[in-house]
Parts: sequence; C-alpha cells; structure tokens
Amino acid sequence: MRHMLNPLDFSVEEIDRLLALADDIEHHLPKYAHVCDGKKLATLFYEPSTRTRLSFESAMLSLGGSVLGFSSADASSAAKGESVADTIRMISCYADIAAIRHPKEGAALVAAQKSSIPVINAGDGGHQHPTQTLTDLMTIHALTGRLSDMTIGLCGDLKFGRTVHSLINAMARYPDIRFVLIAPDELRVPSYIREDVLRARNITFKEVGNLDEAMPELDILYMTRVQRERFFNEEDYIRLKDSYILDRKKMKLAKPDMYILHPLPRVNEIATEIDDDPRAAYFKQAQYGVYVRMALIITLLGLEVK
Ligand code: CP
Repeated sequence: MRHMLNPLDFSVEEIDRLLALADDIEHHLPKYAHVCDGKKLATLFYEPSTRTRLSFESAMLSLGGSVLGFSSADASSAAKGESVADTIRMISCYADIAAIRHPKEGAALVAAQKSSIPVINAGDGGHQHPTQTLTDLMTIHALTGRLSDMTIGLCGDLKFGRTVHSLINAMARYPDIRFVLIAPDELRVPSYIREDVLRARNITFKEVGNLDEAMPELDILYMTRVQRERFFNEEDYIRLKDSYILDRKKMKLAKPDMYILHPLPRVNEIATEIDDDPRAAYFKQAQYGVYVRMALIITLLGLEVK
C-alpha cells in the first residue's frame, strides 16, 4: 500500500508516468468513467478548502466512484476531541482511499501510519501540498512542453506557503532548473528548503525582495497569497499582505511567454485586470487539478484501465 504525503514519495519516473496518465485522462475522459466503480474516497478536511476538496470529489465521481467525508473539524468528532489516528482507523473501515487536510504539519503522516487504506496529504499546515504540486507540474508541462531548463520565480509568502515548499522539492529533481525566490525578509523560504533541498542539490537560486527586477528573467511566475491563517498576529499580516501585486504594468516587464501560476485562492496579489492575459494560467491550472487527482487515485488504488 502506498500513500502520497510528499512529492518525493514518488520517483521522477513515477511522477512522469502519473502526469502522462493525467494527460490521457484529459483527452479521453469517457474511457475512465468506470475505473473506480464501487470504490469510495473519504475527504477529511480539518481546514477550509474549495479547489482541493471539490476537485478530489469531482475526480472520484468522474471515475465512477463515490465520496464521503467532512469539510471542517467542527463537523466531525474532532470537535469532541477525537485524534487523527483514531479517525483514520474508522475511515479505513468506511472508504478505500482518503485525502486529508489538517492545520498541523505531519498530520497526514500520522494518519498514514495508522491507516489501512492509502492516504493522500491534501495539505498539512505550512509544510507540504503534494497534489497541488502534481497540478503545478501538469500545468507547467502543458504550457511549456517541458519540466526542465527554466527559471521559476516564486513570489509572496514563501515561509508559510506549503505549495511553494512542495513545488521546490519536486522541480529541484529536474535538470537545469533555476529558482528566483521573491519575498519580504520575514516571509523567506524556511531554512530546511534552502539548505536541505536547494544547497544540498546544488540548485541555482537567489533570494530577492523586488519583483520588478526579477520579472525579465522568469519563464514561470508562481504567485502566492500571504497566508493569514498561519500568522501569530494580525498586525504583521496587514503589514505584509500587499507586499506584491501583479498588475498590467508589471506584466510589461515579463517575457512574452512567461506564464503566471497561482495555487489559488488569490486575495490581492494578482490584479483581476490580467485575468484575460493569455499568460495567466491559474484557472486552467485549477482544471488540471482534477485530472492529476484522478490519475493519483487510480495509481494509489492500483487499478487497471481497460
Ligand atoms: N490550492 C488550494 O489548495 O486551494 P484550496 O485551499 O481552495 O483547496
């Protein structure tokens, strides 16, 4: 039995196979309509979500399976004090696979250790969000035709943004990837990403504070929101929340084929005036999230597609 807790749980070859399957799903959707007949997905969401939970549910329904679950801790027995470990033991009796989102780093790992069904980390605190990363990889590949030889700018809350941590982990395994990490001092990437991933792998990267100066060299700009829910005080959030706002003026500094990604939700960091720019890929990105989650469910359940 396998879980997906971190993008590194899958080798590059396995990720490439999964992305190829997601691509086939996108182009031949009816072929997959009954792959999960009789299977159930449990979505255990202790934190708010729109895209991740609903795209998981949409994915399972599109595969012919069923879904059950809860969308907040308050709507489950967590509100009465039940642990994640006990909850997943119950869920293992009710479903064939589970996706869990939790505010605490490591919650998905705890669940996996006690589970008798595959567990997918749908976001654990400020740590990792591997299925967003699969979505991001599929988007980058679809837009550029490659996952190598590019300069990726990551901008915003690089400290608490779990999507950023997972994406750096995953992209650092492909050849000739360069990162420009654009953040205010207080929201720089955690040292374990800088030291254990980037420096340990000899990846070319720089940390800068100015988005305008970084723009001309980027092939991909990955914008992120400042993660209000992870701040200890509101004053710091208010001071930092509008550190970067991508607008038409800034886009004039970008390459003509520099794509903008964002895991969403956005707050202010991308002005709506650029939603119609052909380089704005964030809504398409959310759509790819369904196909990669379909591919992941099929893969973790070990199902055959006829
Ligand atoms: N990208 C993402 O995780 O969005 P949700 O919080 O809406 O699931």
